[in-house]
Amino acid sequence: MDSTQKTLADFMDLPDLDIMERAVVFNEYMEDIKANHHLQYRRVSMSGSRPIMEVMDPYSGNVEEMIYLASNDYLNLTKHPRTIEAGKQALEKYGTGAGSVPLLGGTLDIHIELEKKIARFKGCQNAILYTSGFGSNVGTLLAMLDEKDVAILDLLDHASIIDGCQRANVEYFRHNNIDSLEKVLKKVQHQYRTKLIAVDGVYSMDGDIAPLDQIVALAKQYGAYVMVDEAHATGVIGKNGRGTPEYFNLEGKVDIVAGTFSKGLGCVGGFIAASDELVELLHYYSRAYMFSTAPTPQVAGSLIAGIDIIETEPELRQKLWDNIHYFRKQLLDLGFNLGRSETAIFPIIIGDDLKVKEMCRMLHERGVYVNPVLYPAVPKRLARVRMSLMSAHTKCQLDYVLDSLESIGKKLGIIKSISDKKVKAV
Ligand SMILES: Cc1ncc(COP(=O)(O)O)c(C=O)c1O
Repeated sequence: MDSTQKTLADFMDLPDLDIMERAVVFNEYMEDIKANHHLQYRRVSMSGSRPIMEVMDPYSGNVEEMIYLASNDYLNLTKHPRTIEAGKQALEKYGTGAGSVPLLGGTLDIHIELEKKIARFKGCQNAILYTSGFGSNVGTLLAMLDEKDVAILDLLDHASIIDGCQRANVEYFRHNNIDSLEKVLKKVQHQYRTKLIAVDGVYSMDGDIAPLDQIVALAKQYGAYVMVDEAHATGVIGKNGRGTPEYFNLEGKVDIVAGTFSKGLGCVGGFIAASDELVELLHYYSRAYMFSTAPTPQVAGSLIAGIDIIETEPELRQKLWDNIHYFRKQLLDLGFNLGRSETAIFPIIIGDDLKVKEMCRMLHERGVYVNPVLYPAVPKRLARVRMSLMSAHTKCQLDYVLDSLESIGKKLGIIKSISDKKVKAV
C-alpha cells in the first residue's frame, strides 16, 4: 500500500470490513508509513520530558538524544525537585493508590487540600478532581447537559469537550469569531433549558487565546453560562500563571473553569473549578468521578507543590516567555506561517501532508523531536508541524532547531531561499 496517497481518514469507516479485517488493512498502511520513515507517533522516551530527551529511534533501535519540542510540560515541573520530593512524601505516607472511588473511601485529606488549592488558584469557590483532563471534561459535560440543553462550541474545541456533549444539542461557532457566536446565541436563546458556551482558553493545535472577555459579556447578554478549558493556559498565561480568566481580568466571573494537571502542572489528572453548589452536584452525578478511583496520593502531593511553584517561582514563566518571544520572532523572520499562535504552542502551517511528514522525518534525523498534525485532525490545507516550548530550553537549543528548520524549510520549498527573496525584491 502506498501510504503517501492516504490519510487516517481513509480507514475510519471501511463499510465492507469487520473490525478485525479493518485492523489488518490499517496495519498495512502503518507498515508503509514506517518503511518511509514517516512514523513520528509513539516514539519511546527513555528519560521522560526534558529539553534534551533520550528517545529510542524507531528505525535503528538506538537510544538518541533529541531536542524535545513536543512537551506540554511548559514549566518543566515534571522534573522539579519540589514536585518530586512532595510526591515521594505522599507516596511514603499514603501508599501507591487511593484505594477506592472518591465517594466510597478514596477521598484522602491530601485530595481535599488539592481541591482547595486549585479552587483558590483559579478564583473559584470549590473544585472537583478527576484522574484525567479528558475525563473531567467528558464527565462533567455528560453530567450537566442532556437533550433539553444546548452546548455552544468553538469549531476548534478539544475532543474531550465535543465528546462530553453527546447527550446535548450542539451548535458550533466559527473559531474565535464573536459575530458567529452571537448568531448562534440569538438562534438558541429561547429554545433550551441550559445554554453553555464551552471554549478552550488556549487552543491546543493553534496556540491562540479565546477572546474570553467578549465571550463572557455575550453570555451574560443572552443568559448563557461559560466553561473554559485551561489545559494549555494554566501556568502559562495571566500575570501569575492562573490562566485565561486572569489574563482577561475575569477571575471569579467564569462559571466553570476546567483544566488538566498534565501540562503546565507536570503530573496527570484534571479538575473542574466552579461554585460550591455545582461541585457538590458533580460529586453525585458525574459518573467519571463517582465510578473511578481517586487520583494517586503521589500525584496529589506533587500537584500541591506544583501550584506553589507557579505562585512562588515566576522566573520559570518568565523564562518560558523569553523563549516564546525569541523563537517566534526568528520563525517569522525566516518566513514561516505560524497562524494565529500567541503562546508556547507553535504550529508551522504547511498545508501539504507529505511535506509535513518529510519535514518531521528530516527533523528527526537531525535530532529534533516535533509532531506532525495531519488531516483529519486539521483540514488538509492546514496540515502542520506542531512544536511547543518549555522554560528550560536554552537559546543554543532553539538556535539549533531554527537552523534545522531553515535549511529543511528551504529544501522543501516551504520558505524562500535568500536568493529567491533577492530576485523578488529586484
Ligand atoms: C485543550 C485540552 N483539553 C483537555 C485535554 C485532556 O487533558 P489530559 O491529557 O489531562 O487528559 C487536552 C490534552 O491532552 C487538551 O489539549
